[in-house]
Amino acid sequence: MNIYKPELVEIMDIIQETPDIKTFKLQFVSKKMREEFSFLAGQFAEYSVFGEGECTFCIASPPTRTEYLECSFKIAGKVTGALNKMNKGDIIGLRGPYGNHFPLEQMEGKNVVFIAGGIGLAPVRCIIWNVLDLRDKFKDVTIVYGARSVSDLVYKRELEEWKKMDGVKTVVTVDPGGETPDWTGEVGFVPSIVEKVAPASENSIAIICGPPIMIKYTFPVLEKLGFTEDNMITTLENRMKCGLGKCGRCNIGNVYVCKDGPVFSYKEMLELPQEY
Ligand SMILES: Cc1cc2nc3c(=O)[nH]c(=O)nc-3n(C[C@H](O)[C@H](O)[C@H](O)COP(=O)(O)OP(=O)(O)OC[C@H]3O[C@@H](n4cnc5c(N)ncnc54)[C@H](O)[C@@H]3O)c2cc1C
Ligand code: FES
Repeated sequence: MNIYKPELVEIMDIIQETPDIKTFKLQFVSKKMREEFSFLAGQFAEYSVFGEGECTFCIASPPTRTEYLECSFKIAGKVTGALNKMNKGDIIGLRGPYGNHFPLEQMEGKNVVFIAGGIGLAPVRCIIWNVLDLRDKFKDVTIVYGARSVSDLVYKRELEEWKKMDGVKTVVTVDPGGETPDWTGEVGFVPSIVEKVAPASENSIAIICGPPIMIKYTFPVLEKLGFTEDNMITTLENRMKCGLGKCGRCNIGNVYVCKDGPVFSYKEMLELPQEY
C-alpha cells in the first residue's frame, strides 16, 4: 500500500450508535487491499470525503476480525458532518494504518482493565475484542465504561454481550442526571466508579481512553489502587494532518503523536513537555 494515497473503501453498513455518533462498516474496493491490509489494535487511519477533506479516527474493529474494517465517529465539524450525510454503498478514502499500537504482548498473562468514556470506547473496543478473541492468553478482564447519558452510550449491543461473558466484569455508568427511570447500571463519573469497582493492580494492566478530564482524574485513582506508571496506558488525540510524522501538526516537543503514539504509557506521558 502507498501510505500517501487514500485507498477506496465502500460503506457496507451504517449503525446509528447515538444521536451524534455513527459506526461505518467498511470494505476495500480493491481485492488486493482486502487481502493485504493489516493493522494492530490502537492504530488509526485518515478517512477522506472527496472534495471535503480528511479526518483521523482509530480503527474500531479488531485485527482478529477481517470481514469489515469499522470506524465510529462523532459529528464534530466539516468532514464528520459530510460523513454523516453519506449512505450505504457510498465510497470514501482511507489511508493508513498509522501510529503505534496497544502493548498486546505486555498484556499477555495479565488481568486487563479497560476504562473508557464516551467515544473513547472506540479504540478500547478494538483491543477488547482483540483480547477476547485470544481469550486464553489473558487473565480476568474488567471493563468500566461511562457516557454522559443513557442515550450517549455507544456499542450498546456489545456492552450487553460483554456483561454475559465468563471472566469479564462489565460495569457501565452514566453521569449524574443522565440516567433514565429504567436504568439499572451505575450513576457517577468514570473515575469514582473505577474507585468503587477497585480492580486489583497485581499482575494487571489498565487501558484508559476518553475525554482528557476523565483520563486526568482516573490516573490518581489507579495509582492509589497500586497500578504503576508503566502499567497505565492511554491514547492522545492531538489534531493531525499527515499522520506520518511529516507536517509537524501533532508534535509535543520532539514527540510526534502520529508516529510515536497515539498510544503512550502514563510514564511516557509524564516525560512529555506539559503542553497537551
Ligand atoms: C489518533 C486519533 C484518533 C481519533 N479517533 C477518533 C474516533 O475514533 N472517533 C472520533 O469521532 N474522533 C476521533 N478523533 C478525533 C477526530 O479526528 C476529530 O474529531 C475529527 O477529525 C473532526 O473532523 P471534522 O473535520 O469533522 O471537524 P473540524 O471541522 O476539523 O473541527 C470541528 C471542531 O473539532 C475540533 N477538533 C478537530 N479535531 C480535533 C482533535 N483531534 N482534538 C480536539 N479537537 C478537535 C476543532 O478544533 C473544531 O472545534 C481522533 C483523533 C486522533 C488524533
Ligand atoms: S500529523 Fe503530521 S507530523 Fe503528526
